[in-house]
Amino acid sequence: MSSDLFANQNKNFSYYHALIQKIKAYDKKYYQDNDPAISDAKYDLLRQELINIEKEHPEWQQADSPSNQVGYVVKDQFNKITHIKPMLSLTNGFSTDDIKDFIHKIQKFLNIDYCPKIAIEPKIDGISFAARYKNHSFYQGLTRGDGKIGEDITENLKVIENLPMKLPQEAPENLEVRGEIYMSKADFAKLNRQQEEKGQKIFANPRNAASGSLRQLDTSITAMRKLKYFIYNVASENFANSQSESLIKIKKYGFNINDLNKAATDLSTIVEYYKVISERRYELPYDIDGMVYKIDDCILQERLGEIARSPRWAIAHKFPAEEAKTKLENIIIQVGRTGVLTPVAILTAINIGGVIVKRASLHNEDEILRKKIQIGDIVNIKRAGDVIPQITSVELNKRENTHKFIFPKYCPVCNSIVTKLAGEAAIRCLAEYSCKAQILGRIKYSVSLNGLNIIGLRDKQIEFLYNKKLIANSYDIFTLEARQKNSITRLENYPGWGKLSVKNLYKAINNSRKITLEKFIYALAIKHVGSNIAQILSKHFITINSFIDNLAKVNNEDKKIYNELLNIDGVGLKIVAELAKYFARSANLLLLENFTKELNILPYESNQIESKISGKIIVFTGSLKNTTRLEAKAKAEKLGAKVASAISSKTDYLVAGEGSGSKLEKAQKLAIKILTEEEWINLL
Ligand code: IVH
Repeated sequence: MSSDLFANQNKNFSYYHALIQKIKAYDKKYYQDNDPAISDAKYDLLRQELINIEKEHPEWQQADSPSNQVGYVVKDQFNKITHIKPMLSLTNGFSTDDIKDFIHKIQKFLNIDYCPKIAIEPKIDGISFAARYKNHSFYQGLTRGDGKIGEDITENLKVIENLPMKLPQEAPENLEVRGEIYMSKADFAKLNRQQEEKGQKIFANPRNAASGSLRQLDTSITAMRKLKYFIYNVASENFANSQSESLIKIKKYGFNINDLNKAATDLSTIVEYYKVISERRYELPYDIDGMVYKIDDCILQERLGEIARSPRWAIAHKFPAEEAKTKLENIIIQVGRTGVLTPVAILTAINIGGVIVKRASLHNEDEILRKKIQIGDIVNIKRAGDVIPQITSVELNKRENTHKFIFPKYCPVCNSIVTKLAGEAAIRCLAEYSCKAQILGRIKYSVSLNGLNIIGLRDKQIEFLYNKKLIANSYDIFTLEARQKNSITRLENYPGWGKLSVKNLYKAINNSRKITLEKFIYALAIKHVGSNIAQILSKHFITINSFIDNLAKVNNEDKKIYNELLNIDGVGLKIVAELAKYFARSANLLLLENFTKELNILPYESNQIESKISGKIIVFTGSLKNTTRLEAKAKAEKLGAKVASAISSKTDYLVAGEGSGSKLEKAQKLAIKILTEEEWINLL
């Protein structure tokens, strides 16, 4: 629908009224059903039209007009439950080389020269879940959530086909199994046909349909959707000696396991099987997006442990991306949290492997030039799993009426001049603290799952609160309720908010006041400090006070803390520079102080067992006979020690293997306790 069309309409009151109803219906689909029915551009046109009519006819304006409305606050519907141990995700591999590398790294870590037995399983494209059993009875179900805290879906799991509610006597009394909920391709097609007939939401793919069907407060809807599951993992300790044994046991207790599971002890068998399944996958009754390889032996799994949020002992081998051609209609510029201007391709919508694609990432100006992309081109689009689709190439011989894209010289949001920093491909707006896009980007980032995790506070609402000057940063969110008590402009009086929405919003905010140090550091939205580094920093500083006190000193003349930071494994110069920059700004120091008043920031809690080396700083040097340095380091960390890369006066132990050099000398000079490999093993 174009605006000219509107111009020709006779815009009487009933037309205005119908327009309101139409926008409201789109709003509901967008905010409540998470399923935009029209493009942003078309939606914006409708809204603009509404505003124009209201300007022309203020006498018509209805109290509930969407012209002020910002959307619905989603109910904080599901309770949060903590996982007994984190629900990890898998590292992705895309080529045979990636898998070779995976096996090679394991061999290096364990110091072995053969390939240990590997369990091969299809990677089910669904939603992960955990089911808990007490006294042989099912009692609780959880989603993955952020990996540490999931949502309570107990009632929903009760209606999943074939998920046992009672376990046989031979099963352990208490058990937690983990797996994937999915919708079969046939049920998905049937559901979409029914939805279409009823004029309701069409799901983009079986996974979205499964997710939407599982997360229903009304479990009768979940029941109607015929969801299925496979179990691929047992979270309880000492359940079996290997992954394959674990699955056999689970099957005996009545759970569904996938029948394409297999084992191998060499790369060629693995890759061969991958090819077979890859070709056969379209015949399967459910979607899979790759294969998963797991070191079978549980003792080896335990030794290998995990890195960040993925196990070292497993990898997902993804199937290749799917491609299609479509037209590049336009290129728009988005300004991100860190000021980077990112060009985004607006495409004629196209279905690629069951997913509707409307946008693709263009990364930066160089990429547009390198790929010779022009607006109006027919382009090839590649989509792989959850990754944002990419333009792979342009059909130069189909070029007609295209034009070059001129990269803006000014920030499209704040109008300040943009710069390309040395050594970077990105073009940035440097107005870090005055560019609205960057300020909003940081607030949205802070509020997200890995940070403050305020469920239901969506981008649109953040924008609304910011535009109405009710918040200027993420801290202000926590004083909103108190400030509103004395305010004449009440949030609930704005069209589209309403009492219930506001109440739910406050509830969601208050639920987020208790936060781990790790998530809090993430929520500060410091450049280069993502969840991985936030975890490393929280582990190092333990409490919020120690974090603030130490980092406040980072800009002082004395280089102690500067060096201490650099000595933390995983923290490099780039990160320290950003931390220094952040702590040099007095407004940030004030923000931190304010935050500590509003939030209950929990100290880092190691889930490691108390050990003789908890909290000790250890450095390894030389080569070890019985293990590798990689494994020794991982083990020390698991037992609560901090592993540093260089000797300092704070080092507690130097574990010196064969051929130790300068580190050993330095440790001797500083009178640091030196352990041989044998002494180290005895200590543990
Ligand atoms: S194992 C620590 N096995 O893929 C083990 N995951 O990030 C972690 N998935 O979140 C998962 N099929 O939801 C495993 N056979 C399989 C799987 C599988 C699907 C999902 C799972 C996980 C995601 C990978």
